[in-house]
Amino acid sequence: MKLVFATNNPNKLSEIKVLVPEGIEILSLHDIDCNEELPETTLTLEGNACQKAMYVFDNYGYNCFADDTGLEIDVLKGEPGVYSARYAGKECKAEDNINLVLKKLDGEANRIAKFRTVIALIIDGSETLFEGECKGEITLGKAGKEGFGYDPIFLPNGFDKTFAEMKQNEKGAISHRGKAVEKLVEFLHR
Ligand code: IMP
Repeated sequence: MKLVFATNNPNKLSEIKVLVPEGIEILSLHDIDCNEELPETTLTLEGNACQKAMYVFDNYGYNCFADDTGLEIDVLKGEPGVYSARYAGKECKAEDNINLVLKKLDGEANRIAKFRTVIALIIDGSETLFEGECKGEITLGKAGKEGFGYDPIFLPNGFDKTFAEMKQNEKGAISHRGKAVEKLVEFLHR
């Protein structure tokens, strides 16, 4: 079975490829010659994931799934949430987003946060959603070089190292995306 994963994020692609069993071939947007930016204009992770997946299905004709992920910080009332990618501004880098989060939490004792991923799968036009979350806390400073995004400041519950200090398979086994993909794979096997 061929399935497009509606992303060009190489980190997300490689995280997902190792989680999906043989028999399911994952294609990237690049693989299907889709070089445009996908619309992502709703105010929820669910809405954005569906919007991206449906766009690929409608315009390129492939069965497809898309994910949208947000970092939700308790004392910031769920921010950055759906705005996680551009929290520090339109053209910002991951480093800028991290610095803004650390600044907003400066002196704050409650650092509880979670990552939440929603995957929207479109098969022959019909849509199914899968969700995964990973609870943890925001560290006082950055640690680690693996992963991407907010990984250097996210300490998952029960671990003494950040996502950025974990190998990809270690992160995948406990991460928000790993859990959502597990549900997706289970569904595809039914
Ligand atoms: P999106 O799902 O690509 O829209 O991601 C939104 C934002 O969350 C981006 O800034 C990503 O870098 C960040 N993000 C998504 N997944 C992860 C993750 O697994 N770890 C750390 N940051 C992530």
